[in-house]
Amino acid sequence: MNTSNKVWYITGASKGMGLSLVKNLLAQGHRVVATSRKLAALKVEIDPIFQDVFLPVEVNLNDEYSIARSFEKAIEKFGKIDVVVNNAGFGTGGALEELSTEEIASSFDVNLFAVIRVIQKALPYLRAQQSGHIINISSIAGFAPGTGWSVYAAAKFAVSGLSEALANDLKPLGIHVTSVSPGWFRTNFATAESIVYSEKQMNEYNYLREYHGKFNAMHGTQLGNPERVADVLVKLVESKTPPVNFFMGSDAYQRAIDKIKTLSEQITTWKSLSGSTDF
Ligand SMILES: NC(=O)c1ccc[n+]([C@@H]2O[C@H](COP(=O)([O-])OP(=O)(O)OC[C@H]3O[C@@H](n4cnc5c(N)ncnc54)[C@H](OP(=O)(O)O)[C@@H]3O)[C@@H](O)[C@H]2O)c1
Repeated sequence: MNTSNKVWYITGASKGMGLSLVKNLLAQGHRVVATSRKLAALKVEIDPIFQDVFLPVEVNLNDEYSIARSFEKAIEKFGKIDVVVNNAGFGTGGALEELSTEEIASSFDVNLFAVIRVIQKALPYLRAQQSGHIINISSIAGFAPGTGWSVYAAAKFAVSGLSEALANDLKPLGIHVTSVSPGWFRTNFATAESIVYSEKQMNEYNYLREYHGKFNAMHGTQLGNPERVADVLVKLVESKTPPVNFFMGSDAYQRAIDKIKTLSEQITTWKSLSGSTDF
């Protein structure tokens, strides 16, 4: 794949990591299709000098036709798509017993099913080109979950699992897939703007509020710099052998290493029982 001047398609681009990605990629000479629920917010952020290389599209990620139309517009304007970044997502906090079916469904709708819908609509173009890179923004919570975020972790585990399986399936077609799992990044993600807590709160789970409070208190001091994400993703895309799982941020790296150590010890401890079912 020619590594310069690529066409990127990025979801959830009106703020945070998505917006920073759009701005930095445009500044580096790439062409960008950016989706948002709030087109006006997105347009205001981007300098009009980029109008020939920037396509903002209002997309409802819960609607496959809205997504399909955005790809048609992207192809009409740029003729191809090189990189698809599934970035849109939000946090869901609360005990599983506290979360309603609707709250859980809406988390999975955006954090997982939107990712699936976008990939399904992108694939016909990537297959025809016999090239492309799908980058799914998961989370370190999708590998080493924290306390109080079971549903968010479940959705992000699914994103990472889907990415890993898809990477195998799509390799023969010349399409790469990478699951990017960020640690804590200094966006508004740790605020009420990006997190929905269960409406129902049970006294029995009050200890979870402490974990949530600690997370909210982190706002403004997170280790990860969103302005550095574009360079990282460009490096992944430029690689001839990109990783299927990439942990972004030294905090994510360390949590992944710790999890692997625990997992490895656990597997070894229970080795004999694991083998006890063999004929
Ligand atoms: N920041 C962190 O510490 C961190 C850590 C691990 C993983 N992540 C993941 O990184 C990605 C970007 O997060 P961020 O930190 O940049 O958060 P952010 O500032 O809150 O931005 C998230 C984006 O997702 C979209 N979004 C949020 N709720 C949505 C909904 N209900 N329906 C459709 N789109 C929705 C929004 O897009 P529009 O408003 O433009 O439509 C928004 O621009 C997310 O997938 C998040 O889970 C973040």
